[in-house]
Amino acid sequence: MAGDTLGRVTGGSGRFITIEGPDGSGKTTQVERLADRLREDGRQVVVTREPGGTRLGEELREILLARHGGVEPTDALTDAFLFEAARRQLVRLVIRPALADGMLVVCGRYSDSTLAYQGFGAGVPRETLRALDTAATGGLRPDLTILLDLPVEDGLARKGPDDTTRFEAEHDVAFHRRVRDGFLALAAAEPDRFLVVDASQSVDAVAREIWVAVEAVLVDAGSEPESPVARIES
Ligand code: TYD
Repeated sequence: MAGDTLGRVTGGSGRFITIEGPDGSGKTTQVERLADRLREDGRQVVVTREPGGTRLGEELREILLARHGGVEPTDALTDAFLFEAARRQLVRLVIRPALADGMLVVCGRYSDSTLAYQGFGAGVPRETLRALDTAATGGLRPDLTILLDLPVEDGLARKGPDDTTRFEAEHDVAFHRRVRDGFLALAAAEPDRFLVVDASQSVDAVAREIWVAVEAVLVDAGSEPESPVARIES
């Protein structure tokens, strides 16, 4: 399987789908719903998340999201390096091998989160972030990115006090508005890659919209579902 200059994986049926969105937009639920639906359809799916998905990535997640103790304060550029280190590990050890095996990869958050949070939100220059990200990922881009969009206040209200990460606790509403607007700007700049979904709808309605877009990517891939035997073994 070869990659073109954009880093899209070409040839074979592997497809890379990311789900993005501000905090509290329901990404985790929708990642799980999508993975279940794909498996019901007989597809072989790898589900992962950022930061995380590898042992180093999960350790970095602890460091990045911990609200108390641990390391001294970090600035947004240091955060970006750490997110990108976790991403590189995930791309090398999990995502690229799975795509090379023709699998579908569904990932909660990816490069767009760094641009939205550390870039639009915290002010690290976007060229710096793009350069770091290209170095980390080798330019691997998703085939489809679902952006779950909803008003900032609604997203933050959905999260309980014990459920907030450092990024929610340390930043004000204006930061989260910049993140949301940043995601929308990224989506507007690449309409072929992004599907923006109104995440204030019911879970079922959001899942249905996502499924329509994912089916289109699968048809585009020309991939057939695996046999029932492969499904049981997957
Ligand atoms: P996440 O697990 O996505 O939580 P939630 O389900 O609450 O959205 O939390 C990851 C946090 O890390 C989230 O606040 C966004 C932040 N983040 C960045 O700031 N930059 C990044 O590159 C990534 C991947 C995440």
